Amino acid sequence: MIKVGIIGTGFVADLYMRSIQLGTNFELVGAFDRRPERLAQFCAFWKQPAFTSQDELLSAIGPGGIVLNLTNPSSHFEIGMAGLEAGCHVYTEKPLATTLKDAKTLCDQARESNLMLASAPCSFLGEAAQTVGAAIRENVAGKVRAIYAELDDGFIPQARYADWISESGAPWPAGDEFEVGCTLEHAGYYLTWLISIFGSIRSVVAASSRQVCDLLPVDAPAPDFSVATLFFESGVVARLTCTIIGPHNHSLRIVGDRGVIELDEAWNNTAKVRFRRRFNLRRRLMESPIAKRLKLPGETHPKVGRWGSASMNFALGVTELADALVEKRASRMSIDLALHLTEVTLAIQDSEETTGAQRMTTRCDPLEPMPWAQKLG
Ligand SMILES: NC(=O)c1ccc[n+]([C@@H]2O[C@H](COP(=O)([O-])OP(=O)(O)OC[C@H]3O[C@@H](n4cnc5c(N)ncnc54)[C@H](O)[C@@H]3O)[C@@H](O)[C@H]2O)c1
Repeated sequence: MIKVGIIGTGFVADLYMRSIQLGTNFELVGAFDRRPERLAQFCAFWKQPAFTSQDELLSAIGPGGIVLNLTNPSSHFEIGMAGLEAGCHVYTEKPLATTLKDAKTLCDQARESNLMLASAPCSFLGEAAQTVGAAIRENVAGKVRAIYAELDDGFIPQARYADWISESGAPWPAGDEFEVGCTLEHAGYYLTWLISIFGSIRSVVAASSRQVCDLLPVDAPAPDFSVATLFFESGVVARLTCTIIGPHNHSLRIVGDRGVIELDEAWNNTAKVRFRRRFNLRRRLMESPIAKRLKLPGETHPKVGRWGSASMNFALGVTELADALVEKRASRMSIDLALHLTEVTLAIQDSEETTGAQRMTTRCDPLEPMPWAQKLG
């Protein structure tokens, strides 16, 4: 069995553990965190071995195993590099790195060492995203003309986020979230879906802004509002919105010649994927009020219940890496995907008010659907 070790046992590590408990194809050897009290709390709760140093954990994972990097974004580069240098494959929480230069350095190191390097999110491997992919391949909506993807989280400055505590007792890291910013934190939830289905984004025209920074308890807040128009090589165009201001809306709508494929929640692997046919009723153009539910025919993957605001299996990505290693094949969570995702996300986040069109320098071809998502039922 492939060995996996966790570095960083904060808020999100609990979401991974809840997912890992559903059953996996790898052996979890234990965890390390630079905060001993938090490490102890996490390991006691989940009954996992606690390692007292990063090096000890890396040698327990061993070359050919997987480092699960769940540290804060500012540590992603350092921990990712340490994992690769120890001969381990690395699965890192988003973003892969906080600069494109660092992300490229990590990818070069992984390629040179013939190791896998993957970046969250992995929800594009989940049932809802794979259902959307099958619907596009089967041309359910006809030619796709435009996509609207929304990641508005609600007016978070007024949320009681100080009370958001993970299962084993980690507080939601508000300061970090606001300094990293909602775009770097969340754009990937739809970017990965769209890139995996439609392939590379050729150029990005975006704007980002700090609209509620006076309400956030941090010195250096990142943009809290961004809107991007994404031009795909394939000709598709998408609008992606990320804010912690707009009323909660995580919907996706894909508009085609025959109608609209839609779903309500990016953060739910079991969100219902629906199709509304377009037609004219006398002189009125409408999309059908009765939606057709689109489904895959059989079993898909293990599901978690709702924990906090998410209902996602966070272990799908590391499971995909372990499967790829055992089956000696390329992983769907590829280096190309991780790097392209990072370049596009940073282009949106850093666009501010006056940046014009940005040509992307990286690419990623559409990704193989999961074996259980070849066709709709
Ligand atoms: N909070 C969420 O809801 C959420 C959801 C999905 C993804 N994420 C992502 O997960 C990652 C972690 O977020 P979090 O919410 O768990 O943060 P957190 O602050 O709660 O936990 C991060 C942990 O990493 C440890 N750490 C940081 N640098 C380290 C280093 N160099 N060596 C060892 N330990 C180190 C910290 O001590 C801390 O315990 C981020 O990349 C974030 O974007 C967070």
